[in-house]
Amino acid sequence: MEKNALNIVDERTQASYVIPIYKRTVRAMDLRQIKTGAEDFGLMTYDPAFLNTASCQSAITYIDGDKGILRYRGYPIDQLAEKCTFLEVAYLLLFGELPTESQLIDWIDNITHHTMIHETTKRFLEGFRYNAHPMGMFISTVAALSTVYPESRNVHDAEVRLHQIHRLIGKVPTIAAYTYRHSLGFPYVYPDNDLGYAENFMNMLWKMVEPKYHANPVLARALDILFILHADHEQNCSTNVMRAVGSAQADPFLCTAAAAAALSGPLHGGANEEVLRMLAEIGSKDRVPAYIANIKAGHGKLMGFGHRVYKNYDPRAKIIKWAADQVFQTTGKNPKLEIALELERIALEDDYFIKRKLYPNVDFYSGIIYQALGFKPEMFTVLFAIPRTVGWLAQWQEMLEDPEQKIARPRQIYTGHDAREFVPIEKRGV
Ligand code: CMC
Repeated sequence: MEKNALNIVDERTQASYVIPIYKRTVRAMDLRQIKTGAEDFGLMTYDPAFLNTASCQSAITYIDGDKGILRYRGYPIDQLAEKCTFLEVAYLLLFGELPTESQLIDWIDNITHHTMIHETTKRFLEGFRYNAHPMGMFISTVAALSTVYPESRNVHDAEVRLHQIHRLIGKVPTIAAYTYRHSLGFPYVYPDNDLGYAENFMNMLWKMVEPKYHANPVLARALDILFILHADHEQNCSTNVMRAVGSAQADPFLCTAAAAAALSGPLHGGANEEVLRMLAEIGSKDRVPAYIANIKAGHGKLMGFGHRVYKNYDPRAKIIKWAADQVFQTTGKNPKLEIALELERIALEDDYFIKRKLYPNVDFYSGIIYQALGFKPEMFTVLFAIPRTVGWLAQWQEMLEDPEQKIARPRQIYTGHDAREFVPIEKRGV
């Protein structure tokens, strides 16, 4: 008898099947052989929202949600956040190993030389209204890059792919900064190749008439750490979109735009913006208990709380809390922090949240730092999309190189009508 297997008896037919267990999963296709007769299609699995389905094998990011562990390519997230720069981590995620010194120099050089966007793309941004949401502008402009680089369609050419990866990682901060400048009516600032990734982003956001922009090093480092923490998170909603759209062999600009569209939703990356709205709505610390009581009564959700995978404190939230302290020493405390801490304190002692294992997630504190850094809530999800572009691209590459992957095409359980006769319009009643 095969030990690493399931022995299944179909009560409908009394037939038995041995289904191998592969890396703690069963292959859904192995169930197809379970049939009641020759006409039967065979068993499928039903898993709306992928609660218990592995859609791929991946060597990029490891999460143990019960223990609150997050690792990129085996390295604990806290070590990477403490010791690396964002571009070093980007290299690790994409290529599997930390770069040597010369690899890092080349990598930074490649990214830095792809930060400018075509002037026509810059003008494309002019078409948006002054009050357009930055995330809408970001998604559309990333998609528009597809028209500028038609060779990017050649997704099976590794060299072409790498070129687009450089372009995307280089250009997303530029696009993000331009959406911000557009909303303020300020002239766009060209990238400055002397500056690091986060510093250059700050330069494009905030430089005015001074000849050279000098970022505050504490704030630039905090932003770089936030980028590291947001770089990848295995098969989340937007990454799943990246892989699904990529599986149809769309070019990486369009895949990234699609993934960013998923990220913009309030249950995903849009949650950081919602957290700030929630804290503003609560207004003061003494109103926290009433707010929580209202949530428990079924009126909405506590934004920045809960996670599909983490049933423990999100390890990123811990590091963000630490980074927030560093930022606040420079910028002064964000008054919303007091409300957030009180919300966390009460929620973590409350049965409703304990029973459901609801803890602060990455979005709970990130918005408070972003606000202290000078960003408006509308920009928060764009700040998430910049680093996550790296994770999306790493996952996209892995998907394209995986011989088991095909176009993503789920099955369904059809619940509609059986075949019926067409009814002419005059017989359809009034
Ligand atoms: N506040 C109050 N109750 C909650 C919350 C919350 N934030 N999150 C989940 N619950 C309750 C939910 O109502 C359900 O209760 P019951 O069993 O009585 O029906 C239970 O907890 C299980 O929740 P679920 O909705 O089945 O969990 P899920 O895995 O489908 O959803 C989630 C995960 C992140 C969408 C959800 O927790 C949520 O909506 N949180 C608020 C939005 C948020 O912070 N999103 C950011 C996620 S982290 C970063 C990212 O992915 O971008």
